[in-house]
Amino acid sequence: MYQFTEDCIIGIEEIDREHRRLFDLINEAAELLALQSAAAAPVCRILAELKDYANTHFAHEEAYMEKTKDPELVLQRKEHAAFREKLAALLSASVTEDNAAEKLNEILIFLVRWLYRHILSSDMMIGRQPAAEDPFAFTDRYRTGIELIDREHMRLFEIIRDVNEVIHNNLLHDKFDEIMRLLDELRSYTEFHFADEENYMQKINYPDIEAQKRAHAAFVARLTEIDIDDLDSIDDNQQEYLQELIQFLGGWLINHILKMDKQIG
Ligand SMILES: [Fe+2]
Ligand SMILES: [Fe+2]
Ligand SMILES: [Fe+2]
Repeated sequence: MYQFTEDCIIGIEEIDREHRRLFDLINEAAELLALQSAAAAPVCRILAELKDYANTHFAHEEAYMEKTKDPELVLQRKEHAAFREKLAALLSASVTEDNAAEKLNEILIFLVRWLYRHILSSDMMIGRQPAAEDPFAFTDRYRTGIELIDREHMRLFEIIRDVNEVIHNNLLHDKFDEIMRLLDELRSYTEFHFADEENYMQKINYPDIEAQKRAHAAFVARLTEIDIDDLDSIDDNQQEYLQELIQFLGGWLINHILKMDKQIG
């Protein structure tokens, strides 16, 4: 049973309801699959339904973001498209009665992992207000009151700020190399920080540690996926893409600190 846990709730009713329905469908398929006697056909039917429902849901989500002029719409569209492609590929692989259980299981694992990760790292940002004048300044409202954590958050803000600066520096010769290097630094420092934070939570027996771990894993996965070579395929608006990317990363961090990390303190 895959839980649609509270940390997956983004606060927009229609979207939350549809996410829940996606989880329900995954659970239905998982339960059927767990039955030894079950044939592959009914599981495949649920997966086909899920595929259609996911498309409907993405369309709703994108329409909502278009209406609210959400700056992350471009990134979301890209992720949704990648999901559709991957799922279509998985579903079109030939399923025989012999390999059915294995193949279907693989699909379910992909679905659950993708969904958790996508909701926690991307959907979570839908409808969030962009931060004040200087979006990458670490201000008092981000303090958790735990010295180590605050210090590490400050460092994360610094790296994000550096990336932002390089993005906007048109004179820099090796701009993309430098951006790549900084993003790499951001990823490793983020991993380092999350480990520290999780250790701290463990030490104080923090009750919400599992939700924190899930959110952290989703964000790290997202950081690992950033591939600057993608930029070659979007010649026209590289600058815009990078700007959106860094705004997303900074925005996610802010939202996570305000919503989750501050509760640790
Ligand atoms: Fe989405
Ligand atoms: Fe944190
Ligand atoms: Fe955290």
